[in-house]
Parts: sequence; structure tokens; C-alpha cells
Amino acid sequence: MLRRLNAVQPEAFVFSKKNEAWAKEQLKKFPEGRAASAVIPLLWRAQEQEGWLSRPAIEYVADFLEMDYIRVLEVATFYFMFHLEPVGSVAHIQVCGTTSCMICGSEDLTKICQKMISPDQNTLSKDGKFSWEEVECLGSCSNAPMVQIGKDYYEDLNPKNFKNILELLAVGKVPNPGSQIGRYSSEPLKGLTSLTGYESGKNQFNASVQLAKNLGDTIKRINPNKVSKKVSKK
Ligand code: FES
Repeated sequence: MLRRLNAVQPEAFVFSKKNEAWAKEQLKKFPEGRAASAVIPLLWRAQEQEGWLSRPAIEYVADFLEMDYIRVLEVATFYFMFHLEPVGSVAHIQVCGTTSCMICGSEDLTKICQKMISPDQNTLSKDGKFSWEEVECLGSCSNAPMVQIGKDYYEDLNPKNFKNILELLAVGKVPNPGSQIGRYSSEPLKGLTSLTGYESGKNQFNASVQLAKNLGDTIKRINPNKVSKKVSKK
């Protein structure tokens, strides 16, 4: 899938003071001369700050790490986790359109995005709160079709439960991520057929869903104040 930088770009980008301090700490994790290894976390932090990755942000990270612009552009344009256009202020919906999800109904989910958000992907909804895009396999094929919103997966979707998720987000509520039809993880639809001992004693939700519930906001960005500054002392 072709991924291009947005046609409209801001004039400049600089890390906030907190993010700059955080980024400098990250560099201590890597041996001298290997600062380029920090490219993904720094791009991610730039995206967390602005909501999307602009060309000035990509070039700022390149300068920060003393890398050629093309090297950082290669990374930013390769991974779907990096948004190259402005995204919705409430949520950006990434709909998996690869084989398993397509066979199980992802095209219906796309139609809902077109109707409820915008006819075209990577375009903000009229109120600026939502955007969507089709992405390649997100590795949750056994629970297809699925979408990623923020850092969480919403699985076993159908038009009804997907529409409900969008409606909840629109009124400021946070729907539970994970399977939307009650599966614990990726076991058979009718429950475990082997190793059934694992059925007893488990929590209500799997660890990933439970973590999201504990955070209370599955789509909020990373708070720089809450990210550990500890680095290994090698
Ligand atoms: S095909 Fe959709 S998650 Fe793999």
C-alpha cells in the first residue's frame, strides 16, 4: 500500500522539554554510534506529541539521531503505526483488510467507516474527531475481522458491535477492547476442546483487556510524566 507524506505540512517541529529530556535518556540505552537504534521510539514519541508524524517531525528526529532524512523516512513510511496524516482527535480506526478479515466481513466494517466517519480513508470526519484507514494484517487473524484503535485491538467484529463501538467513542465512552463476542482470547468459538483445565481460575478478561480496563482509557496517548526514565547501566 502506497504511503505518502501529507500534502499540507506544519512549518516546524520540536520536542517539548519533557519529551526532549526523555529522548536524551533513551539514547543512553544504546552504545556510542548506535543512536539510530532509537529511531522507532523517538518517532513514536513525536507522534504522541503531535498526534501524527509530519515531515518536520521526521526530519527533527533524523537530526536528533544524526541520521540521513531518507533513513528515517523509510521507517516512518513503512510502519502503519506511524500516521502520516492528521488523525481524529478522539480515535483513528485501523481496519484490517487482509485475507482472514476480508473473508470474515472487513468490507462491511469499511462501509461503516465510510458512512460514519468519511467516504475516504485518511480523511478527518466533519467534526475532526475520527479518521480511518485500511491496513494490512495486524496478526489477530483468528479473531477476524478486527480493527486497531489507539493501542488496542477490537476483535470478532460485525456491523452491529462495530457501530456500537464508534457510537460509544463518539459520546466519550471507552468500550472494552478484545473480543466483542465474549471470547477470552483466540480459543474456538464454542470454548476450549483441550487443556480445559485452563478454564478454571482465570480472570474475567485476558491480561491485555484487563490492562486497558485498569488504565480506564484505551485510546489516550502516553503521558510522558508516567513513562519510566530508568535505563540500564551497561
Ligand atoms: S488478516 Fe486481519 S488480523 Fe490478520
